Formats: sequence, structure tokens, C-alpha cells
Amino acid sequence: MTREVKSVAVLGGGTMGLGIAAASADAGAEVLLLDVTMAAAEASLDRMKNIRPPAFENPASADRISLGSFDADLAEIKNYDWICEAIVEDVTVKRELFAKLEPFRKDGSVVSTNTSGIPLKDIAGGMPERLRKDLVVTHFFNPVKIMRLMELIPSADTTSDVTVALADFCGNKLGKGVVYAKDTVNFIGNRIGCFFMLSGLHKAQEALQNGMTMEQIDTVLGKPVGLPPTGLYGLIDLIGLDIMDLVGKNLHANLPEADVGRAFTSFPKPEQAMLERGQLGRKAKGGFYRLNIAEDGTKTKEIFDLSNETWRTAERISLDEIHANTETVFFADDKVGKLAWDIMGGTLLYAADLVPEISDDVVNIDRAMRWGFGWAKGPFELLDQLSPAKVISKLEAEGQSLPAMLQTLKDAGVDSFYRNGGTEYLTLQGTWETVPAE
Ligand SMILES: NC(=O)c1ccc[n+]([C@@H]2O[C@H](COP(=O)([O-])OP(=O)(O)OC[C@H]3O[C@@H](n4cnc5c(N)ncnc54)[C@H](O)[C@@H]3O)[C@@H](O)[C@H]2O)c1
Repeated sequence: MTREVKSVAVLGGGTMGLGIAAASADAGAEVLLLDVTMAAAEASLDRMKNIRPPAFENPASADRISLGSFDADLAEIKNYDWICEAIVEDVTVKRELFAKLEPFRKDGSVVSTNTSGIPLKDIAGGMPERLRKDLVVTHFFNPVKIMRLMELIPSADTTSDVTVALADFCGNKLGKGVVYAKDTVNFIGNRIGCFFMLSGLHKAQEALQNGMTMEQIDTVLGKPVGLPPTGLYGLIDLIGLDIMDLVGKNLHANLPEADVGRAFTSFPKPEQAMLERGQLGRKAKGGFYRLNIAEDGTKTKEIFDLSNETWRTAERISLDEIHANTETVFFADDKVGKLAWDIMGGTLLYAADLVPEISDDVVNIDRAMRWGFGWAKGPFELLDQLSPAKVISKLEAEGQSLPAMLQTLKDAGVDSFYRNGGTEYLTLQGTWETVPAE
């Protein structure tokens, strides 16, 4: 069967639902937006128009959105091709809604959940066969209008025409970068990105004990290692310690027993204390950083110094050439090199061990990290820049075992994960395949 999405019913008009509804309307689709009450749906449309930047590319797209409530209007979904669920992250509440909507939707429609990390099998398990075949995860990133990444995750029961139809609509009509992931905890982007953050909080303690400041840590874990300037602490401030706490709990419940990320699912003591007193990040007007505005209007960026747990003025850091340069910082024989190798290098090695668990190939992992987390290069592209042979030698000298993809590369007797100007990639079997168009 070939399916085509021309109309979208979005269920839940919160942060994600309003973004998906507005993007779909901008793409010319007829949109139905349902929420717990008609008033909630109206408030959602209002937010689409008034948030900054607006959720719409074209304000006239709002005319393509019809509104309703779950109780009064669920039957209306029969007129829509894609039923996109974006309600609260609660497996019981999501399952109740899916059970309720299933009798109303038309044959041939496709269904998705925008869960951030609940395994699809937990949402789909025990549901009618038609729903299990038509259901995938469409994991958009916030804000939908700006973030390019959309992870598409089928279950073992999903038929391929469903994935094809949603990849076509989200890729070609919404302009998203579609990445194919497996039904494993936190999918690709958040699995690797959260490992960086949670392992980073633990491993940075050693750097702090070695006399590095938090500003130095954030500076090194920014541009020099190919990450956005928020580094480690700045990135967690953006996301919020409360969200990171939930992520940690989800990882604790769902990571495989032998996963190295298991060691980092709860916070170190100072960060746990911050969480408990509500020092959560930007949304709480202070986390690791805060902006202090004096009575005369002077603004000072302050940092919560973990070494003595007090606020002080944040310092600007400049790095010498060795530490500012990607090719050299990971191998620098000092505390800065150790930090880059332990935290970012550790994240690259973690990613290199997750094929085929979270993705069948290196390309989808690289794209997820570039499009969802703003990495300059994905983990395998970055390993190529560092020289896999050099990384392997360092690991062997340290007596560490090689992660799966580095072992594959070594066994295949090749020296990179990409070749021919990035047009071919190394498979898990050690063969070369053409990189699909972005
Ligand atoms: N916010 C993000 O950064 C982000 C990113 C990716 C995925 N997600 C996921 O997207 C989904 C929606 O998240 P969000 O950030 O838009 O949340 P939100 O809190 O902004 O919106 C939640 C929506 O669910 C509705 N709702 C609340 N209680 C409900 C109930 N009992 N039954 C039915 N609907 C109910 C609300 O009215 C609202 O429309 C979640 O699964 C979340 O994990 C969020």
C-alpha cells in the first residue's frame, strides 16, 4: 500500500503539539488540533501566533487549523491522514488516548507518538493489530520550527509504508532531517547527548579537583571539541536539572544491564542538592550560571562555583592553540586534554559501541547529533577528524577494549568511517555503502 499524508490531526497543543500543528499548516496540510478542552486548544492556537519567534512561517496558515476537544471531537480524526499524539509524557495517559481514538480513525491513516523516551513497545503493547501496524514514534525536537532533527522509530509491528509516508511528509514537506532510530531508550540523540551531560557531571569532578574552573571546563567542552558554546554546565542550564533528573530515572529503568551509562543515571551530590533547592537552570533564573542585574541595570554573569558552592562573577577564558584545536586537545598530555578525552572522547566511544543497538549505521547517528544537538560533526565524523588509528592506539595503550565500530574499522583494515569525500560510509560488516542524500 502507498500512503500519503495531506492532513494532520494533532492531539495535544502544548509546546510540541503547537509546533507540529503550525509547521504542518505552513506546509499546506489541513490540521485538526484537539486538546483536553476547547479552551486549551484555543489557547494553543493563540500561543502559536504570539510566541517569539512565532510558530508559523506564514500567519495565514492559522486559517488551516480547526480546533476541538478530546471529549467532543475525537471522531473528527476520521478525516485526517496522520494522527500525531503530543500529550503528556505518561505511558498510561498515552495508552488511554490511543485506545479511545483507534475506532475513529480511517483505514490507511498513520499514527505517531511524540514521546521523548518511552519505548514504543510499552505504548503499543496489547493494542489492536491495526494500530500496532500503523504506529511509529515521530520524535521532534523543541522548538519544532527551528530544530532540524526528527527521529522516526518503527516498532517490530509497524509496516514499512507507514515509515515511508511519514519520512516523506516530515522530510519533504516539513523540511525536517529524518533520522531512523531503533526502539531503544531515548532513541539516538538523547541517548548520546544525555550520556555526555550525565557522565560529564561526574567526570568533571576530577577536573575541578585538579584545579580547573567550571568556565574552563565549559570552554574546552565547546568549540574545541566540536560542541556548541554552552559546553557542559551551560547546556544543562538550558535543559533544566529537573528534566535531566527525569531522563536519568528513565535511563536507570530502561538501559541495558551492561551499558556504561548506568554508572551516571543519578547526579553527583552538589547537583542533587541544586535540584532539591530548585536551582534548576535558566527557567529558574539560575542553575550553574545566572545573570545578576544590579539596581543601576548593570548585568553580571555569575557562576555557582561547585568547588565551594557559592556564587561569583564568571570569567572569560581564552585557550592556547593546543587546547583550542580539535586535533590536538583530545591528545594533550595535561588536565585539559584529560578532560576532553574523558568526557567528549568517552561520549564518542559510547556512540561507537551503539551500532547496531540504537541505529543500523553511523550515518543516522552522525546526523542525529548534528541536527538535534548542534554538534559541528557527528561522533564518527569527529573520530575521522581525530584519526581512528590514533584513537585506537591510545585506547590500546590504556588497556581499554575497542567499541564495536572501532573494532570493525580495525578488522576491515581501513582508516576512516567515511571515504570518497563523505559519499560512502563503513558498515558494521566492514563493507562500504553509499551515504543517502540528506
Ligand atoms: N518539550 C520538549 O522539549 C519535548 C521534546 C521532544 C518530545 N517531547 C514530548 O512531547 C510530548 C508533549 O510534550 P510537551 O513538551 O508538548 O508538553 P506540554 O506540557 O507542553 O503539553 C502537554 C499537552 O498534553 C495535554 N494533556 C495534559 N494532561 C493530559 C491528559 N491527562 N490527557 C490528555 N492530554 C493531556 C496538555 O493539555 C497539553 O496539550 C511528551 O511526550 C514529551 O515527552 C517534548
